[in-house]
Amino acid sequence: MLNRLVMLGFALALAFAPSGARADDKLVHLHAPASLVETGVMQHILPRFTLKTRVRVELVADPASADMVLGGSGQALFEGLGQVWRMALNSPGHPGTERFATWLRSDVGRRTVATFAPGGVAIFSAPRGVGRNGAARQFDGDAALGRRVSRTKCIRCHAVDDESRMTDIGSTPSFSVLRSLPDWEARFSAFFTLNPHPAFTVIVGVTPEFPPERPSPIAPVTLTPEELDATIAYVAAMEPADLGAPLAHQ
Ligand code: HEC
Repeated sequence: MLNRLVMLGFALALAFAPSGARADDKLVHLHAPASLVETGVMQHILPRFTLKTRVRVELVADPASADMVLGGSGQALFEGLGQVWRMALNSPGHPGTERFATWLRSDVGRRTVATFAPGGVAIFSAPRGVGRNGAARQFDGDAALGRRVSRTKCIRCHAVDDESRMTDIGSTPSFSVLRSLPDWEARFSAFFTLNPHPAFTVIVGVTPEFPPERPSPIAPVTLTPEELDATIAYVAAMEPADLGAPLAHQ
């Protein structure tokens, strides 16, 4: 726990350190067109990548000075806003850049982009022909941790498993009901943006602070991105018939 907090502090310190000259292997200069940046997708993916890898990504205006350029050329990553988005590397071999490129191509990276859903509406998806189903069905979070998170942080309002079915507050959907919805993953990935949660939920390094005039009305529900991934993995395993996964909820 302490270890995790120290690592988190380190990651956040890196994420918010002032930018200077080309510092090290753990800083990537990224250029992305304004149309992409304006969706807010970078604020969604970059803190999650940085938290996991401690590699920081900084947006730069000039494609020529970037290590990686997102746009119309290079390897296809995702589709949305009427085009396929591709990445081109200007600094192949640079460790941080390679790490970021690998992550963007991975299931986790693709899913992180695909679950960006401001107001509950997803904007991006895997490009056609890139394992949309197969890839989207693997969850890297720790389901056992997700169960503990659900039982400590969500259970006061939601039934999170069979045992808690009788303790939920009547009108709040149970996790198993939510799991049966076709877009359950988008809802869980974005739950902190969906009412009533924004008023009291903190995702460390992702959500902005509560405005001083509207502090959280209850003790805030605080999750790390890792705990959110874990919760999604836990919920994913709730419907074994859908997944063919061996994990069954009794
Ligand atoms: C203080 C009460 C409260 C807590 C704590 C809470 N929720 Fe909720 N949640 C609600 C209510 C109420 C709804 C139903 C909102 C609606 O139907 O408009 C809801 C709905 C949801 C939905 C569906 C959202 C949608 O619009 O489709 C998800 C997903 C969800 N909660 C996840 C979570 C997770 C994960 C946690 C714990 C980390 C959590 N909630 C903690 C009250 C809470």
